[in-house]
Amino acid sequence: EISFFFPPEDTLAVIKPDTQHKEEILEEIQAQGFTISQLKDTILSREMAEEFYKEHREKPFFSQLVDYMCRGPCTMLVLTKENAVQEWRAAMGPTDPDQARLTAPESLRARFAKDVLENAVHGSSNTEHADQKIKFIFGDIGEIIPDTASPPLET
Ligand code: TYD
Repeated sequence: EISFFFPPEDTLAVIKPDTQHKEEILEEIQAQGFTISQLKDTILSREMAEEFYKEHREKPFFSQLVDYMCRGPCTMLVLTKENAVQEWRAAMGPTDPDQARLTAPESLRARFAKDVLENAVHGSSNTEHADQKIKFIFGDIGEIIPDTASPPLET
């Protein structure tokens, strides 16, 4: 029997402010088999929220989006799983909850988003963005930390 090993992937997930469904969202994350590799609650400054969503700087909803993201604490998560980026996008569902309720009624946005702006959760759209946003929120967690218990290498 041939088996394949797929390396786990990281994505950045955010439980946005004011959702009132944080516990249910965390339960769903675990039910779907994601490993929570990092977790912290952070209140973003305006500058950080603007940087976080810089790809949308020219959009008409940008300033409202930044207001919303700064309104209270965000729960920032690094989720790890095979194909995590795509799987977390699927778990969230479409951006607009009206559409989510039609096409993905089990999704988090169908269940918990208020409207297209206050849509409860964020997830990176590709692995490049995931790496960039994880570094931005959590710092350089990818770097190799020397194991002090190991004997020094002979040089
Ligand atoms: P976008 O990256 O298009 O969606 P997603 O979060 O599904 O990747 O948009 C980023 C956020 O901007 C979105 O989560 C909510 C907000 N937004 C609006 O407020 N109005 C809109 O019409 C769109 C498209 C997004």
